[in-house]
Amino acid sequence: MPPAAGTSLKPVRRMLAPKTLPKVEGGNFTRDLDLAQDELVALLELTQQVKESPARFSQSLKGQYLSLLFEKPSLRTRVTFELAIKQLGGDSILTTGPIGDREPLKDVARNLDRWTNGIVARTFSQQTIDELAHWSELPVINALSDRFHPCQALADIFTLQEHFGDLAGLKLAFVGDGNNVAHSLMLSALRMGMNFSIATPNGYGADAEIVAQAEALAAVSGAQLAISNDPSEAVSGAQAVYTDVWASMGHEHEQDERLADFAQFQVNQKLFAQASDEAVFLHCLPAKRGQEVTDEVIESDQSVVFDQAENRLHVQKALLLMLIG
Ligand code: CP
Ligand code: NVA
Repeated sequence: MPPAAGTSLKPVRRMLAPKTLPKVEGGNFTRDLDLAQDELVALLELTQQVKESPARFSQSLKGQYLSLLFEKPSLRTRVTFELAIKQLGGDSILTTGPIGDREPLKDVARNLDRWTNGIVARTFSQQTIDELAHWSELPVINALSDRFHPCQALADIFTLQEHFGDLAGLKLAFVGDGNNVAHSLMLSALRMGMNFSIATPNGYGADAEIVAQAEALAAVSGAQLAISNDPSEAVSGAQAVYTDVWASMGHEHEQDERLADFAQFQVNQKLFAQASDEAVFLHCLPAKRGQEVTDEVIESDQSVVFDQAENRLHVQKALLLMLIG
């Protein structure tokens, strides 16, 4: 049984020498579940150390070069990966635009293999990332696809752990579009023993295959998964409330239809007040104020959105150390 909500256990701290860094068995981070449970725990511990003592790791990627492939715009992911790599002593090359239009993905992967030490890719399709990982012998990191945003979920979990200590038994509510951010958050939160409630409009629910994986994780961790179309039910008593844009990158042309479909799913003060008094507000950013969240909520003292953004840097350093360092 998870401890009662609000029980504050500090994460275990083990100081790891850089040469004994934990490794990721499969060598890739194409999706959340590429990290085994113990690897996720190790990554969160390593993140704490990297955040507290960045200088200890300033040469860990010396002589290592990463390929950053971005098919879509980015502020946080691109800047934090570039900074993370540089602050670990390595360097990166950025290419933007479609991957695999000019030549087959299998050739892109096998070219990058000859020059660099890892691939970080933000793509429209998860299949692009999976294909790169299939053909490349380098670690491949998902920097957001249509299906997952696993680096974001790592930062979100780390942020919640910093705020609450042990997460088991706490309730995290997601209100909005059941796509990439919601998928990754659902899988990661349930693994940490958090109860997860998601409310989406009809037709925008989480993918059935991912829900099935989430149910299996919940059965192991003892956490509860609740799926509905009712934002009040999802948020009720939650320690954390999360939302994301209503029209993700690649869906901008559906904006008008989505504004109507999501109208009852705004995280405003009235909805947020139904959460626990100690609740925090999370958003991956960028946010559309006045749509999925009001200015009042995102600018409130309970908002931790910039902690999340900062922690992107620290968790990705830990990830790079575990995959490449
Ligand atoms: N949260 C996030 O991934 O932001 P960017 O799209 O700016 O990278
Ligand atoms: N769901 C959003 C997340 C942006 C970080 C998108 O895919 O555009």
